[in-house]
Amino acid sequence: MKKFLIAPSILSADFARLGEDTQKVLECGADVIHFDVMDNHYVPNLTMGPMFCKGLRDYGISAPIDVHLMASPVDELILSFAKAGANNISIHVDSTRHLDRSIQLIKEQGCTAGIVLNPAVSLDCLEYIIDKIDLILIMSVNPGFGGQSFIPYILKKITQTRELINKSGRNIRLEVDGGVKIENIAEIAKAGADMFVAGSAIFSQPNYQVVIDAMRKQLAT
Ligand code: DX5
Ligand code: ZN
Repeated sequence: MKKFLIAPSILSADFARLGEDTQKVLECGADVIHFDVMDNHYVPNLTMGPMFCKGLRDYGISAPIDVHLMASPVDELILSFAKAGANNISIHVDSTRHLDRSIQLIKEQGCTAGIVLNPAVSLDCLEYIIDKIDLILIMSVNPGFGGQSFIPYILKKITQTRELINKSGRNIRLEVDGGVKIENIAEIAKAGADMFVAGSAIFSQPNYQVVIDAMRKQLAT
């Protein structure tokens, strides 16, 4: 298993050429495709549904797809994204009335399950759910839009989450989403993250390979 995973968020890709742009970022060294689902209800923006995910699979994208549901309710979407080809599905802890049941639903569909914590949401719920999840996604911006700045107090939260993962003795990915760039990725890794979502930092540049290589170089330091 790779120590660090780079997961470009295709929220910042060219939506008119989504298949092509996703293929391109994979050829440039991405490990995972981060797929942001926004419903204009849980968050104030509207993006892609399960048909887009199936569309990428039909186009020939075989890399892991990491679905980040910023939606409420989630149970119907879990079923349709699993069918559409998702590998991991992550849900916000405050987006579902029955977190344990929704996590179970993700696993029953054969996907790995992640929980997402917004910047000001406490880590308390981990005490009860940590034995059932494969991934924790710490939001380092308020969800809804790409291109925002990393919130500095999240570094401490990442370290606290890493301590809880280590204490659990389980193999849980610690993903960070929002404002990740070449300039701060090393510091975020040092705090304890091992999976990095980057949207605007990658897709705003003409050569994705240059950005991904620079991020890996930072992670190797
Ligand atoms: C924000 C999304 C992120 C976003 C990251 O709600 O969950 O995945 O696209 O974008 P950047 O890397 O531009 O902050
Ligand atoms: Zn995301």
